[in-house]
Amino acid sequence: MSDKTNEQRLEELNERAEQGGGQQRIDRQHDAGKMTARERIDLLVDPGTFVELDKFVTHRCSDFGMEDKKIPGDGVVTGYGKVNGQTVYVFAQDFTVFGGSLSGAFAEKICKVMDLARQNGAPVIGLNDSGGARIQEGVVSLAGYADIFHRNVQASGVVPQISAIMGPCAGGAVYSPALTDFIFMVEETSYMFITGPDVVKTVTNEEVTKHELGGPSVHSTESGVSHFECASEEECIAGIRELLSYIPPNNAEDPPFEPTDDPADRREDQLRDIVPRDPSLPYDMKDLIELVVDDKHFFEVQPDYARNIIIGFARLGGHSVGIVANQPKHLAGCLDIDSSQKGARFVRFCDAFNIPIVSLVDVPGFLPGVDQEYGGIIKHGAKLLYAYSEATVPLITLITRKAYGGAYDVMSSKHIGADINLAYPTGEIAVMGPDGAVNIIFRKELAAAEDREQKKQELVEQYRNTFANPFRAAELGYIDEIINPVDTRPRLIQSLEILQNKRKENPPKKHGNIPL
Ligand code: HXC
Repeated sequence: MSDKTNEQRLEELNERAEQGGGQQRIDRQHDAGKMTARERIDLLVDPGTFVELDKFVTHRCSDFGMEDKKIPGDGVVTGYGKVNGQTVYVFAQDFTVFGGSLSGAFAEKICKVMDLARQNGAPVIGLNDSGGARIQEGVVSLAGYADIFHRNVQASGVVPQISAIMGPCAGGAVYSPALTDFIFMVEETSYMFITGPDVVKTVTNEEVTKHELGGPSVHSTESGVSHFECASEEECIAGIRELLSYIPPNNAEDPPFEPTDDPADRREDQLRDIVPRDPSLPYDMKDLIELVVDDKHFFEVQPDYARNIIIGFARLGGHSVGIVANQPKHLAGCLDIDSSQKGARFVRFCDAFNIPIVSLVDVPGFLPGVDQEYGGIIKHGAKLLYAYSEATVPLITLITRKAYGGAYDVMSSKHIGADINLAYPTGEIAVMGPDGAVNIIFRKELAAAEDREQKKQELVEQYRNTFANPFRAAELGYIDEIINPVDTRPRLIQSLEILQNKRKENPPKKHGNIPL
């Protein structure tokens, strides 16, 4: 019988748990430029608020000599704490314990916090740093992953789920982060892929490094898997804290209100000339966003992916909003496969979590091309249309310049459910741009003209005056108001305020069938 008191045993267990895989492995973790699981949690939550659960859980594996290698906590630190005063549930994989690999017990710990988060309506934050399935446990580990995946899906749209990739994340393990709402990745130290460089080499004979295959820059520019690429772990954790400040703890609550000193009636003179008179000239829609939102602060999501559409969070008069905006500076702001998917996913997130959406429109249409058609622009473009059409949150739309063709309909038009539709006097709402339109409807006249170019200019001007303006749409009530650009901020805030109590429900159904 042990002669230690329970207090002594408790102290010893706590110490062993907190040591994880031991000092040597902790040093190795630090040398690799990474923090330990506990250090990360300390940085994430408000000081002194973290409460750890299941600190003494151990694995139940007895193969490969594992019965002699038990570390309390078994490689994942789980529990709850507060971020910006709001409860969050957290799990942090501890790479110093069996490489953060996932055992049956490890998975149960994660499932427990996920269940608590869903039942109690609070976000789940997962800090991932793991060698994947615990090889010694075999299929038990696979079952554990599936238990987590299932919970990710059940929690989707009920509580926000945020993943940070702070080390390896490979194989089927990537699917838990992929099912969550936002993924952060840390430069240099993190990567995500389904099969690593060795398998890729064997199967396709391609030679790539881990970083080239699944590093943060790949996922934030090429694949769109990641939403935030962070220079350091500190930046990553600060990013998670900021993201949480815009979103409610669950789908039954409104987003946090943050009072501001930025006047709601601030008119912004610089907006007067922000849209160039020449419709073929680009401008930076981010400048417009920053001039309008509270404290000129815009928290952009996926800034380097599909840059022809901008998405992100901001506040207007203290209210949290999601902003979706075409970016004339890239590909003239057209909609293509990637930008449609990027926009659609964001619109659905905002809608799921009661965050009003402000759409800023300057879109010449969908991107033409064989690649786009073969790649399925029809079904991908339909996703954005679907997302806006099913959204029940307040939808405010401002057309700054072009709103052509199907893209006009898609970009939160009145017809698919937007509540307040505004336009600048520079708005051009038409089936297509004047050039294309004239080529089609005046083909014969142009062919017969003595001076084709001059005739074309005349006809383009005539078309522009008749159709490429916001007045026709305003006559029909498709645009509620044509506003002076300097009034953008006050008008958006007024619109938001009158929509605060919006209640709209879609018809009852099991679920829709979004074109995936
Ligand atoms: C058990 C593991 C482990 C694993 C690492 N370790 N991965 N233990 N199961 N999957 C242990 C190592 O034995 C080592 O223990 C410690 O963690 C650190 O690992 P190192 O290899 O020394 O670290 P490093 O050089 O940084 O390399 C990290 C790594 C590599 C790239 C992650 O360990 C690796 O390739 N691991 C295997 C990855 C893998 O194939 N996982 C299974 C994938 S299949 P000691 O005691 O020496 O410190 C999968 C399916 C999921 O995950 C399916 C879901 C549906």
